[in-house]
Amino acid sequence: MTQNLQAVRGMRDLLPGQTPLWQWMEREIARVIGAYGYQEMRLPLLESTELFKRSIGEVTDIVEKEMYTFEDRNGDSLTLRPEGTAGCVRAGIEHGLLHNQVQRLWYQGPMFRHERPQKGRYRQFHQVGVEAFGLPGPDVDIEQILMTRRIWRALGLEGLELQVNSLGTAAERVAYREQLVAYLREHEALLDDDSRRRLTTNPLRVLDSKNPALAEVIAAAPSLLDFLGPESRAHFDAVCAGLRAAELQFVVNPRLVRGLDYYARTVFEWVTTELGAQGTVCAGGRYDGLVEQLGGRPTPGVGFAVGLERIAALLEAEGERDGLGAPHAYLLAFGEGAEAAALLLAERLRDRLPWLRLVMHCGGGGAKAQFKRADRSGAAYALVLGDAELAGGVVGLKPLRGGGDQENVSNQGLAAVLAARLQAN
Ligand code: HAM
Repeated sequence: MTQNLQAVRGMRDLLPGQTPLWQWMEREIARVIGAYGYQEMRLPLLESTELFKRSIGEVTDIVEKEMYTFEDRNGDSLTLRPEGTAGCVRAGIEHGLLHNQVQRLWYQGPMFRHERPQKGRYRQFHQVGVEAFGLPGPDVDIEQILMTRRIWRALGLEGLELQVNSLGTAAERVAYREQLVAYLREHEALLDDDSRRRLTTNPLRVLDSKNPALAEVIAAAPSLLDFLGPESRAHFDAVCAGLRAAELQFVVNPRLVRGLDYYARTVFEWVTTELGAQGTVCAGGRYDGLVEQLGGRPTPGVGFAVGLERIAALLEAEGERDGLGAPHAYLLAFGEGAEAAALLLAERLRDRLPWLRLVMHCGGGGAKAQFKRADRSGAAYALVLGDAELAGGVVGLKPLRGGGDQENVSNQGLAAVLAARLQAN
């Protein structure tokens, strides 16, 4: 026997039982983003490898060991996007959207990272990303963080914690880096191999180590916040003040460094304790140097991305929205004449009620079998058309959830009655 083919490790299928929740989640997020005047971009999944090396940084985990990189038939090195900011900036520069302009943009779709799969961590995962360009002040940082809060509210998510930090400017980080390296060298014996290597390549990343053995050393390390110059300090204070004014609770986490090198000043993450090790559901920050770094004119930028698998996992754990996406009605037909008439009736109902989710029973069968299918579909109502109903110009309407008798409704009145019943529910 040949072996069954399976999905590539770390890449998930979303099954019909899951997609209604995803569709709802994506719709709600898009609605909130739209309420802030951000406009959607659709960006390629493949970009030149160079783009990610120059933006995310050569000595990050993503670029060093997580990218899906290959040569295409022309010998060009391409990479499946591990994140969306780089491509968004590339497109912005390429199409002249950024220089001397304000842009509020967003995108969504799959991202690819060759990480070790575990709960909440996949090799293909989905983000909704939001980016604003041309705005250097703290107001837009605050706007975006408030937008994330509004997204959680729209989704009914509670209990997420907001962490914020400032990474200062590149120059401020140079001074900090020196002190941090000196400190870590003093404690080198306590570091693990990975952190020892980071000491020379990307020492700030040591702060992000998840190794519990390092927790104490990291907790006592010098704080980047003490190295901020007056402008970075003022920017950070203004962000914090704005969040307080909007009554948004947050914690300042001076060890929050992010896994991508393009950030400067504000960084933030929303975390939950409910997903185990993969608790960050949304992350972002300011990246004022990135546009220039990728060949554009200097343009400030700030953005974030929501990890949809992690949000979906939180929503699934709540398990309240089971009926989401189920049909409103399931149309049963008995007898040849009724079957033919049912198809036309279904079309007429869809004409009258464009929002209606109506499943037409196909394949014949007795009443018991058809009602069983109707019930399994999750529909709220069964519509019943037999030869008797056909002759009488009526359709049987039977509630499938919570009991209730079948009643006859006239053909002409059916759409209105059905709409009223469904809206009352
Ligand atoms: P990131 O922190 O690498 O940032 O990813 C953002 C979010 O994507 C994470 O907080 C997490 O929820 C989700 N995520 C990342 N990797 C995985 C994975 N392997 N499996 C499941 N979910 C994952 C960025 O990507 C930046 N581009 C965000 C940004 C936009 N900064 C400015 N603008």
